[in-house]
Amino acid sequence: MKRIITFGTYDLLHVGHIRLLKRAAALGDHLTVGISSDELNISKKGRGPVYTTAERLEIISALDCVDEVFVEHSLEAKGDYIKEHQADVLVMGDDWAGKFDMFNTLCDVVYLPRTEGISTTYLISSISDVGKKVAKAG
Ligand code: CTP
Repeated sequence: MKRIITFGTYDLLHVGHIRLLKRAAALGDHLTVGISSDELNISKKGRGPVYTTAERLEIISALDCVDEVFVEHSLEAKGDYIKEHQADVLVMGDDWAGKFDMFNTLCDVVYLPRTEGISTTYLISSISDVGKKVAKAG
């Protein structure tokens, strides 16, 4: 059995997330997703997620291509998470290309291309623009 692990925030689930997770799952037999805690997200991205950690865990674990989820509390613990979950392959989006090569000693490291033109940050800003237009029209 080939075990895959990947990490991310997965706030405001969008098609880029789904495509990444489906492609990651297709590389093996079992997909584990480490979902960054609200606190880790604040330190990593400078803002808290819209959905709480518990909500993001519930949403991602409901996907057919995902077998297991857990909370990623620390970026520094990636190696420990890889060992704990006995991962054979670490999958990351290519926004992280080269940044996780040091885990090659624990497992294969694969970077998958991101989907163009969509991100949680973009969604937050477009929802906010729509909200402003609605407020103006009302
Ligand atoms: N991802 C992707 N294509 C996108 C957006 C994200 O393949 N258009 C992948 C990322 O590379 C990562 C995973 O989805 O492996 C989770 O990414 P995350 O950072 O949670 O999503 P983003 O939309 O990039 O969030 P943000 O805008 O907050 O950085």
